[in-house]
Amino acid sequence: MFVEAAVALFELERTNNANYPFTPATSQELMDREAICALWSRGLRVFGAHDGDQLVGATVIGQRGGHAETEFTSVLAGHRGRGIGAAVKAASVIACAQSGARVCGTGGAAVNDASLGVNRALGYEITERWYSCQPPQGLAAE
Ligand SMILES: CC(C)(COP(=O)(O)OP(=O)(O)OC[C@H]1O[C@@H](n2cnc3c(N)ncnc32)[C@H](O)[C@@H]1OP(=O)(O)O)[C@@H](O)C(=O)NCCC(=O)NCCS
Repeated sequence: MFVEAAVALFELERTNNANYPFTPATSQELMDREAICALWSRGLRVFGAHDGDQLVGATVIGQRGGHAETEFTSVLAGHRGRGIGAAVKAASVIACAQSGARVCGTGGAAVNDASLGVNRALGYEITERWYSCQPPQGLAAE
């Protein structure tokens, strides 16, 4: 069961990796099978949505005491816009709340309208913003 879940998540992430935004502040490294298996051994929790036998969406969340933090969420392109991302993330937040979480955190790149939409739908509030700065052209250190 566990191995099946890990393989399914590996396939989902392999398919979706190119769809994550890559900015100076945000990146989603493609995980190999060992890294995917390590999600479970690190104590993270994985919540998924299936269409028949296929895992079509998943979210990964960790919890320390009263604080839960989402690692990532992804839904296969052909299944987006149907509430699956919000549903799996909501399930993860509810489960962590049942385990004592009182503060839930998540990220969301400003360029990622879909991610921000999921967060907004679940009631997340933006409490901090990260800015990426670079020197004007021509002033970069050699
Ligand atoms: C982000 C992602 C998981 C969203 O999944 P999804 O199943 O399509 O999202 P949902 O259908 O549950 O949408 C939830 C809300 O976000 C909104 N939303 C979804 N996609 C949107 C988009 N492209 N632009 C604006 N809003 C969007 C929906 O309208 C909905 O809001 P509503 O409840 O007010 O109508 C999906 O786009 C994805 O896998 N992207 C690639 C990976 C990624 O970037 N993950 C997030 C970073 S960890």
